[in-house]
Amino acid sequence: MKAILVAGARPNFMKIAPLYKAMLRHRGFQPVIVHTGQHYDYSMSSVFFNDLGLPQPSEFLGVGSGSHAEQTARVMLAFEPVVAKYRPDVVIVVGDVNSTLACALTAVKMGVRVAHVEAGLRSGDCTMPEEVNRIATDAISDYLFTPSRDADANLLAEGIDASRIYFVGNVMVDTLLEYREVARARSDILERCHVEPKSYAVVTLHRPSNVDTESSLRRMVDIVNATRRRLPVIWPVHPRTRHRLGTLGLWNEVIEEDVTLVEPLGYIDFLCLMDSARIVLTDSGGIQEETTVLGVPCLTLRENTERPITLTEGTNHLVGTEPTRVLRVVDDVLSQRMPSGKRLPEGWDGHAAERICVALQRF
Ligand code: UD1
Repeated sequence: MKAILVAGARPNFMKIAPLYKAMLRHRGFQPVIVHTGQHYDYSMSSVFFNDLGLPQPSEFLGVGSGSHAEQTARVMLAFEPVVAKYRPDVVIVVGDVNSTLACALTAVKMGVRVAHVEAGLRSGDCTMPEEVNRIATDAISDYLFTPSRDADANLLAEGIDASRIYFVGNVMVDTLLEYREVARARSDILERCHVEPKSYAVVTLHRPSNVDTESSLRRMVDIVNATRRRLPVIWPVHPRTRHRLGTLGLWNEVIEEDVTLVEPLGYIDFLCLMDSARIVLTDSGGIQEETTVLGVPCLTLRENTERPITLTEGTNHLVGTEPTRVLRVVDDVLSQRMPSGKRLPEGWDGHAAERICVALQRF
């Protein structure tokens, strides 16, 4: 089975890595990695190929940044000849970024079967570009591989036939479990940031709703500065956020003692940093899941989440973006008034990619 694995943006790389490796272990698969180039900097892309032991992509589409329409359209235009060249049996898209939808749409119209990995997640908030990508990708994909049972329920509620839905668990957890010990042994990020294990907070922010306007970004800066009065803060700054902090003139307000601003980190360093953190504050989707597996308290600075299982079974707290409320929960976590991790969700066991290969072989 010839399978194109599509990766475009940072959160995709740790999802295709276990699939690529599982396909090499199973007989009969011929995986081809296509990188759309939605993310292109070393720190947002190449470092992940090195860290995760992936080969260079067979095709690099080099689409780069742009508006949503530009980016989506450029991926479609560049992906069409790639599908024509390889004639794959299946195109596998992961997650919810613009490249996910663009490649699914291109392949399905060329009569190629599409599998969506991480199907069925819903925040209920269509102002998020990722929510539009999720709904549209699921509507047109042939095989919907879900990471949690709530995702199955979301798809059924949208009228999707049960025969297209396969609960397989979480592929990102496959990667995390493969590299957790490696990261502990190999990364010196704690020394480089001058922090001791379990004594610091990690912050990541990049959602347009949190960083694109001055008022929302100022709230984030207030939260970071108030947190650093309680414990040291390490903040790997996403390019979108760095750009907004610069253009809105807020950069100097966060360069305070004990806020360590660093470039976006590679997988091994970031995993090590998260694993030893006392608390994580984020608006990322994937980090909500990773902290649940690591048993590290996570505060999600959003009004909703497409990953409710991390709230009910994991270590995640949905705290919104209002500084007073967020800081109250920070204090509760630091004083251990919050319950710590509960249990690992079903199928978050390191074998999701294996289950996907078995399912694909059956088709
Ligand atoms: C994208 C995804 C989001 C994912 C996030 C992880 C969509 C709609 N959004 O958001 O789901 O959680 O990636 O990072 O697909 N930039 C660089 N270097 C890079 C990549 C981007 O400087 O390697 C800059 C771009 O010029 C742009 C900004 O970062 O100004 C945002 O990039 P973009 O791909 O539009 O979206 P993200 O915010 O990264």
